[in-house]
Amino acid sequence: MKYAVLADIHGNREALEAVLEAGRARGAERYICPGDLVGYGPDPEWCLRTLRKLGAAAVRGNHDAAVTDFSRLKDLNDNARSAILWTAPRLRPGDLEYLRGLPLVGRAAGAVLFHGTLADPASWKYIFTPEDARPSLESLEGNLGFFGHSHRPGFFRLRGGEVSFSPGGKIRPAPGERVLVNPGSVGQPRDRDRRASFAVYDRERGEVEIVRVGYPVEKVQEKIRAAGLPDWLAVRLARGR
Ligand SMILES: [Fe+2]
Repeated sequence: MKYAVLADIHGNREALEAVLEAGRARGAERYICPGDLVGYGPDPEWCLRTLRKLGAAAVRGNHDAAVTDFSRLKDLNDNARSAILWTAPRLRPGDLEYLRGLPLVGRAAGAVLFHGTLADPASWKYIFTPEDARPSLESLEGNLGFFGHSHRPGFFRLRGGEVSFSPGGKIRPAPGERVLVNPGSVGQPRDRDRRASFAVYDRERGEVEIVRVGYPVEKVQEKIRAAGLPDWLAVRLARGR
């Protein structure tokens, strides 16, 4: 069985359509989402409903949490906060209920899922460096985890007490190793590559590959501007940051 791992989708329909097509072309039949289905983008309802229809195994991201609980808005920057206030009234009650019910840590296909860190999932801290990754790698049950939040794809690998990082490609954890995979962001990549990012997990082969796919960024920028969402959210999509 192959799984498409889709993180930080952020209401970007065109990017989600592109990765779903690319995932299907690679044989993915099931879906895993390490959080942030909504926020920033102009099509939160469509993205959310699509993932629900696909039966994706999902966990709650900080934007998913904020859209159902405005007391968390204080933790977000101005653009993120504006987008949450725009998003919330556009979601149906059942979809808000779905987001509210998502766990902070989940399990799917023998892997662990979380959004920010596994060691302290409610803190919404980020994993950017091998040092950041170490506590989560050490608390990982099993040898594989998927996460998001930084919008930067890559593999953090613990072997022989050392943590290493590689920003893309394909990995097959060896016995005794632990690997945390950030598939990158579908809807708002921040590694200076504007293409949507996701991962394909081949469970039988024990292999994970990070895949990039282009999508019509200009169309999403037009939608963001037409919706009255902050202009920076359109600008950054083209810059991939
Ligand atoms: Fe995010």
